[in-house]
Amino acid sequence: MSLNRPKNETKEMFDSISGQYDLINNLLTFGLHNKWKSEIVEIAKKKNPRKILDMATGTADIAIMLSNIKSCEIIGLDISSKMIEIGKTKINRLNLYKKISLDIGDAENIKYADDSFDIVTVGYGVRNFENLNKGLNEIYRVLKKNGTLIILETSLPKNIFINFIYSIYVIIYVQLIGKLFSKNFRAYSYLKSSAKTFPFGENFKKILLNSSFVDVQFKEKFFGASTIYIAQK
Ligand SMILES: C[S@@+](CC[C@H](N)C(=O)[O-])C[C@H]1O[C@@H](n2cnc3c(N)ncnc32)[C@H](O)[C@@H]1O
Repeated sequence: MSLNRPKNETKEMFDSISGQYDLINNLLTFGLHNKWKSEIVEIAKKKNPRKILDMATGTADIAIMLSNIKSCEIIGLDISSKMIEIGKTKINRLNLYKKISLDIGDAENIKYADDSFDIVTVGYGVRNFENLNKGLNEIYRVLKKNGTLIILETSLPKNIFINFIYSIYVIIYVQLIGKLFSKNFRAYSYLKSSAKTFPFGENFKKILLNSSFVDVQFKEKFFGASTIYIAQK
């Protein structure tokens, strides 16, 4: 299934906004993304993982939070070299370079062997894959048997009233922040349109099941503005 823009355009888009990504992310989610990301870590911690892949790691927020898990190696991969550069700076500043390694890498062609990871996490990444099925199949391949995939992704509130407020937020606030803070305004128009069209909730659960994952669960966050999916290999 191809839902998204060509990979080279996605890479260019994230390269161009990399310097402002963290700030904009905080503004757009009112800082709530940190809370949801820390929930990913809590879910991961319970599985006592030894090796985690944070796919589409971006500026490495999730990888950094995951480094709290004892005796666990974390690898972050992303197609945007500029996002990775910023992630590496943060990791060095925090002295976490022995626990976390970041590298350029494509979710649709993961450079690791089958059954390599206890957990794969993806924060706001799957929506950007050029070929979602290919990315999910690759993640499935590199997960160990009984391994866990944890995804955090944008979704849409179901409640009509909340949905109306959310639409206003997206149309006015997201565009405004995009205009004010980003050289690449196109990136935020894309964010707006892809949030509307990307499958979420039961529909995304079906996609995970079709990609051979089992025991798929999902939890809506902030009236459904984001959703955490947990799936097993
Ligand atoms: C919205 S950012 C999310 C970054 C980070 N995970 C977070 O939660 O803040 C999406 C990231 O997905 C990356 N990405 C998109 N397609 C990818 C692919 N096929 N393989 C690896 N990374 C990809 C982009 O470069 C970008 O850094």
